[in-house]
Amino acid sequence: MKKYVLVGCGQRGTQAYAEPLVKNYGDCAKLCGVYDINPKRAALVSEFCGESIPVYDDFDKMLDIVKPDTVIIATMDCDHDYYAIRAMKAGCDVISEKPLTTTFEKAQAIKKTQDETGKDVTVTFNLRFHPFFKRIKEIISSGAVGEILSVHFEWMLNTQHGADYFRRWHRERKNSGSLLIHKSTHHFDLINWFLEDDPLYVNAFGTRRFYGSTREQRSERCHTCPYAKTCEFYLDISKDDTLNKLYLECEDADGYFRDKCVFSEEIDIEDSLSISVGYAGGAVMSYSLTAYSPYEGMRMILNGTKGRIEIRTIDSHSENYNISSKRTVKIFNLKGEEIDIFIPKGTSAGHGGADGELRDRLFRDENKTDSLGQMADLRAGMMSIGIGMAANLSLKEKRQVDLSEFFSEFFKDIK
Ligand SMILES: NC(=O)c1ccc[n+]([C@@H]2O[C@H](COP(=O)([O-])OP(=O)(O)OC[C@H]3O[C@@H](n4cnc5c(N)ncnc54)[C@H](O)[C@@H]3O)[C@@H](O)[C@H]2O)c1
Repeated sequence: MKKYVLVGCGQRGTQAYAEPLVKNYGDCAKLCGVYDINPKRAALVSEFCGESIPVYDDFDKMLDIVKPDTVIIATMDCDHDYYAIRAMKAGCDVISEKPLTTTFEKAQAIKKTQDETGKDVTVTFNLRFHPFFKRIKEIISSGAVGEILSVHFEWMLNTQHGADYFRRWHRERKNSGSLLIHKSTHHFDLINWFLEDDPLYVNAFGTRRFYGSTREQRSERCHTCPYAKTCEFYLDISKDDTLNKLYLECEDADGYFRDKCVFSEEIDIEDSLSISVGYAGGAVMSYSLTAYSPYEGMRMILNGTKGRIEIRTIDSHSENYNISSKRTVKIFNLKGEEIDIFIPKGTSAGHGGADGELRDRLFRDENKTDSLGQMADLRAGMMSIGIGMAANLSLKEKRQVDLSEFFSEFFKDIK
């Protein structure tokens, strides 16, 4: 029986790890302790799990007493490195929520510790486990469209899900590394995984003209906002049981407001992003992210030497939107004929069923053959955020950034 501890008991830590670990994997995994800077939130883990889970007031003390095999990290992105390094030094493997971390320096420090300790670092890219993306990977791997030479990829967040990144810690670069790291890490990882190649050159453009200080009628947070009746972004967290319990009722312990104003001057991340990536093997990608779209979804085109895959998805991420979810995939050979290939639907479970598949692999089927390479290691975590970090630098310095400047050990053969 493997012993796990969790650091970071917010929505993700509690609902994607603690609760399922206890309720579904009790035969092979034991959650032996939790730590969070907010002790009230940490204490709630037992309530969600339906059994008493020890809460520690100090992370190192927890490692010392529990001696876990693996530490699960679900804190703010900027703190993943701190816990990953301490965990490995204490002899533990690490399961880190995406993104691995937020800066080149932090990524290098994690790598250095892994090299020194030999411990495992797994980054939980759940999209690799989504039945839909898994099938696209299978199609590419089968050679149906040949070698992928170019990618066009657009990701859309609607004004409910997208706005959420501007309500809390994600909205400050120092915490999330911007959406280029926090959110796009999923998307960059998918393409890196599909192409089985490393990104090398990155150019980025980005603006923020929708959220941020774009209107005068703003306040600190929705809960006390004088414009609550007229603002279309008003969010009443007291009406959602989980948000109420995890955040509103815990805020006296740490002052973490889950419903800050999306028009705040504090916001320093972009809401519109456009980047180009050149891969080491020669493929090119154009990518964009919009955080205020009328609907949630994506478009992806993969051009290969034998054909082309065209994907469009609309996700029903929000009950307030009168749009139903759909997925269309068209695959053409070079004669323009459409190839008929089976595409599975996702399920309604966490992230289309991806979270459950990922957990099975993490907690029960660790040694099962991974023919599609769905488990993401440290290198995959670094390459995915590598694009985001290079894009951040490109935005700042208005130049093309070469990833081999920062991750030279991975690009030794590149002239
Ligand atoms: N894979 C996915 O689909 C997915 C979805 C959501 C979140 N995430 C990731 O999960 C992580 C947590 O996200 P969330 O939405 O639950 O955020 P959250 O803010 O709800 O939870 C973060 C928790 O960490 C705690 N915390 C903050 N600083 C800490 C510190 N220094 N030490 C210990 N605890 C600290 C907070 O009190 C909070 O309980 C993030 O890295 C996020 O990127 C992944």
